[in-house]
Amino acid sequence: MQPIQSNGYSVFFDANLSSLKDFLDQSSYSKIFFLTDLNTSEHCMPVIGKYLPHLDNYDIIEVDPGEANKNIDYCIGVWHMLLDFGADRNSLLINLGGGVVTDMGGFAASTYKRGIDFVQIPTTLLSQVDASVGGKTGIDLGSVKNIIGTFAQPQGVFISTDFLSTLDKRQLISGFAEVVKHGLIADRAYFDTIKSADATAIDPPIIYRSVQIKNHVVTTDPYEKGLRKTLNFGHTIGHAIETYSLKTDRDPLLHGEALAIGMICEGYLSHKYNSLNGVELDELIAFIRSVFPDYSFSKKIYTDVIDYMKNDKKNLQGQIGFALLSQIGKCDFNIYLKEDQIIESLDFYNDLLIKKSEQS
Ligand SMILES: NC(=O)c1ccc[n+]([C@@H]2O[C@H](COP(=O)([O-])OP(=O)(O)OC[C@H]3O[C@@H](n4cnc5c(N)ncnc54)[C@H](O)[C@@H]3O)[C@@H](O)[C@H]2O)c1
Repeated sequence: MQPIQSNGYSVFFDANLSSLKDFLDQSSYSKIFFLTDLNTSEHCMPVIGKYLPHLDNYDIIEVDPGEANKNIDYCIGVWHMLLDFGADRNSLLINLGGGVVTDMGGFAASTYKRGIDFVQIPTTLLSQVDASVGGKTGIDLGSVKNIIGTFAQPQGVFISTDFLSTLDKRQLISGFAEVVKHGLIADRAYFDTIKSADATAIDPPIIYRSVQIKNHVVTTDPYEKGLRKTLNFGHTIGHAIETYSLKTDRDPLLHGEALAIGMICEGYLSHKYNSLNGVELDELIAFIRSVFPDYSFSKKIYTDVIDYMKNDKKNLQGQIGFALLSQIGKCDFNIYLKEDQIIESLDFYNDLLIKKSEQS
């Protein structure tokens, strides 16, 4: 598969990481660092060893896995390690992991000594189809997701589907939510294709098409002045539910699971306050619910969930900003809704679950 050209860098697709080998052979970095988490150290470093057996002059910085660690404390740890290991401005940071590692590593690299080079090697489906492309880096602050960050472009993104073989099923399905989103916002035919795909065994051409869609959006609008806001479809409500779940559930929702709920709620809003027709709304809901788990929540959480949305970066003058579908494959943005309209969509989601329990 041909590399995809992004904002000053390429996204390479080769299972054996030959492009990464070429990139490193042609470069002259003073030092090379890998940022990993415990799981990617265990499962993904051996893949690096297999395909780049001669790469041995590097240090590994390892963090604990999970969204709860995508914060300033861990980031300070990364900066300290870079300093202690003698990273200078001519060093390279290789972020090997899911979206948590690629987001935080990109942020750490873009701020250390006012910015050092970094590359992304995404190892989850979610980070391959979405998080590693587009130049958004960042960390969470308290319960507010991705609120601290930079726009910073990597030197390259290297995608190998080999990494996905050690990813558990739940993580694969979570990543599939971003694939579904890409179809919904940009490409009806692609949505039809993914409707018959197996979320736990995604074919490389599907990953490639998702990256193409995301890349088209982020190269057209790198700084989210317009079109890029469409990538937020499902995320305004999804992020708020995810934050709530992270704070309260013993086994919190994964990003894509929360996004799936957000896409149903925002699908409803697309029907009610934009032009998505009822037939397409039903199609969206039936497909999403056939793949992703239901999540029940009581009306008592609404206040908290709305409060989390108030911190969303897309808001304007106290109103909450949405990207909403006009049809499957097309998305509008800068649609501002009030709290009672958002609550309607949470009620709508809850009613779906009630109907299901009445039927069974
Ligand atoms: N920057 C962006 O544009 C963007 C876009 C979408 C999402 N994101 C961010 O991405 C993050 C979610 O990413 P994620 O879903 O990849 O989560 P993650 O990075 O937490 O990875 C999920 C889990 O899988 C493990 N793992 C990773 N690769 C593995 C492998 N190959 N084998 C076995 N285990 C592996 C990780 O250790 C972790 O426990 C969120 O923080 C979200 O905000 C960023």
